[in-house]
Amino acid sequence: MLILGIETSCDETSVAVVHNGQEVLSNIIASSLNEHQKYGGIIPEIASRRQLEYIIPVLNEALEQACVNLDTIDAIAVTTHPGLIGSLLVGTAFSQALSLALNKPLIEINHIQAHLYANFLATPDQKNTFKKPQLPAIGLVASGGHTSLYHINHFDSFELLGNTLDDAAGEAYDKVARILNVGYPGGPVLDRLAQSIAKTPLRFKCAPLPGTLNFSFSGIKTAVLYHTRDAAKGHVPINNAEVALAFQTSVVKTLVDKSLAACRQKNVCTLLVGGGVAANSALRQELLNKATQENIRVFFPPLSLCIDNAAMIAGLAYHRDTYPKGESWCNSQLN
Ligand code: KG4
Ligand code: ZN
Repeated sequence: MLILGIETSCDETSVAVVHNGQEVLSNIIASSLNEHQKYGGIIPEIASRRQLEYIIPVLNEALEQACVNLDTIDAIAVTTHPGLIGSLLVGTAFSQALSLALNKPLIEINHIQAHLYANFLATPDQKNTFKKPQLPAIGLVASGGHTSLYHINHFDSFELLGNTLDDAAGEAYDKVARILNVGYPGGPVLDRLAQSIAKTPLRFKCAPLPGTLNFSFSGIKTAVLYHTRDAAKGHVPINNAEVALAFQTSVVKTLVDKSLAACRQKNVCTLLVGGGVAANSALRQELLNKATQENIRVFFPPLSLCIDNAAMIAGLAYHRDTYPKGESWCNSQLN
């Protein structure tokens, strides 16, 4: 079965063709990120205007690369939530029009759940190394807009175990990078800065929220802000690498501790990670180290599938009814 996936929930415009929910035949991603960089965050109006311009060329490229045409596609899958409303409208209106014109089924997909599905996709460069995870699993999604833990029994049963109460992990990275004035998006920049030194006496703490699987990252961002303000007042130079390392160590520890606690709580030995923050080097290393000690297998998507992409949308859609069930999952999951 060939599914055409369409993803426009944030600043990316992505179209993919996926065979039988696993084999990625094409996954084209156009981004307007460079236009948002000077503002230090996504400007929704710019994102949706670019998506209107990009969507047809991106569709054509995805079909061409997969060597298929619209007639051979079996169904169309689209991100319907959560995301920026103007951006979602571009993708959903475009998909509805395609579905009507071609008389092909349309499948609605939750963006956060799809981030976890990225672990089940095989890209051409993974051909001999791909290992498919087994369900049940715990899923950690850490991105610019979300930080959530799920218990996944089937592809249509995602139980939400914990959520951020304020900022998402990626959002905290972006805001700390903004405080330090080191660029946007903050995740990759701070990750590189943190890797440039071995240790620091600096310490920042995330709120532990004991006894829950929820997260909070707004306090640590404020702690970095106060640290830099105090340093500026005292004319003490700020060491960006030390701030990045202290911040990252604490964020990663929180993500790792809560994820492993969720595995223990549900007696599950597979952990899936997804979202932009899954690209983080320290998170990957720490999770692999700690999880192995507890006999938990950890899966990360390849870096190209950590960011927003349409392959994860088309892949998850393979496991869903070809017509949306509406009530059953579309309205019940995270918004
Ligand atoms: O999943 P994603 O592409 O978009 C959303 O759905 O939000 O995630 C983007 C987020 C940004 O906040 C970015 O700073 C963060 O992922 N990110 C990282 C890294 N690469 C991207 N955070 C930490 N370390 C990284 N290496
Ligand atoms: Zn995302």
